[in-house]
Amino acid sequence: MSGNETGTQLAAEDVFRTFKVNAKGRRRALLTAVNGVSLSIGPAETVALVGESGSGKSTLGRMMLGLDEPTTGRIVYGGQDVGSLDRAQWRRFRREVQVVFQDTGSSLNPRRSIGDSVAMPLRYNLGLDRRAVQGRVGELLETVGLPPGTFMHRSPLELSGGQRQRVSIARALASEPRFIIADEAVSALDVSVRAQVLKVMKEIQHSRQLSYLFISHDLGVVRAIADRVVVMYLGEIVEAGPASVVMKRPAHPYTRSLLAAAPRPDPSARTLIKPHVTGEIPSPIDPPSGCRFHTRCPLATDLCATTVPPAVQFDDGSSSACHFATDVRAGLGPWDSSTAAETTRADKGVSSTP
Ligand SMILES: Nc1ncnc2c1ncn2[C@@H]1O[C@H](COP(=O)(O)OP(=O)(O)OP(=O)(O)O)[C@@H](O)[C@H]1O
Ligand SMILES: [Mg+2]
Repeated sequence: MSGNETGTQLAAEDVFRTFKVNAKGRRRALLTAVNGVSLSIGPAETVALVGESGSGKSTLGRMMLGLDEPTTGRIVYGGQDVGSLDRAQWRRFRREVQVVFQDTGSSLNPRRSIGDSVAMPLRYNLGLDRRAVQGRVGELLETVGLPPGTFMHRSPLELSGGQRQRVSIARALASEPRFIIADEAVSALDVSVRAQVLKVMKEIQHSRQLSYLFISHDLGVVRAIADRVVVMYLGEIVEAGPASVVMKRPAHPYTRSLLAAAPRPDPSARTLIKPHVTGEIPSPIDPPSGCRFHTRCPLATDLCATTVPPAVQFDDGSSSACHFATDVRAGLGPWDSSTAAETTRADKGVSSTP
């Protein structure tokens, strides 16, 4: 059986990932790339993970793929801690959770034909015989819109970026996955090719009940494909919720600044994430106190510099880790902290979790 009809979840539970790095003036410093993140992806769901460069998206994605281990916390697949799977369970996990990386021209072996690249997982992960492999490779290339007669025997070097990305998708699908983690999988493609590849991915999702984690710099991609959006800043989730809510009425100033920098709601438009805030993302070696975003937040008060904001949960399923989430959601401004505090307390349907 392929796809995720059985309700399997892939989740990160309070995951931290630190790296020892060389830092100026210190021999060894600790860099916290992911700082206490919980995130789960359900059956046939598309979750978009967005945030500026360096926010920890790929590090989280690698852990959810089992390519890297959390320093603390767990990755849970189908109710089991991925860190304690036995050999057979691990093989199954690696088969069912596949990745499509950004095409760098190097993710496919140039010495192998397209057909052979797609055939590898069929032989090694599914153990199909030669005849069955041949037929399946043809079907998979067909699925991603590459006529097998034309493409089967070609080298990846002879393909365009969009065609190579389709081959990578076909290769990921060959293992009959339930989850695909797509790390900037369509970011390098131009607008029209990107739209075609996303269309293919959506169609496949419907027919196979696949779940996607789309890691992207590109809010156009998020708009086109996501059911749910998760926004990361400096190793933490600052806002999460249904895409229809978060993209229209963000409740965190960081999300608001990302959207302000990318105002066009046209799904075919290319809107790369460049936040509408000043300065660079701070170093994850010495993150700011209190709310990590306070050093760049146009709305920050003294409270933000000293106190970590609790996640405010909204009735519509979204949440925002901002002291003034309700006001940001309401689009209130210019900022006035006394009004903000009053509105936050007065607002019904909102609760704070420490
Ligand atoms: N192996 C590593 N060793 C040391 N630091 C690392 C390592 N991998 C990632 N980092 C650091 O962790 C932080 C998060 O990196 P990550 O690649 O997860 O960010 P990202 O959100 O995927 O960024 P981008 O959008 O540029 O791909 C960065 O500060 C990065 O320098
Ligand atoms: Mg990355």
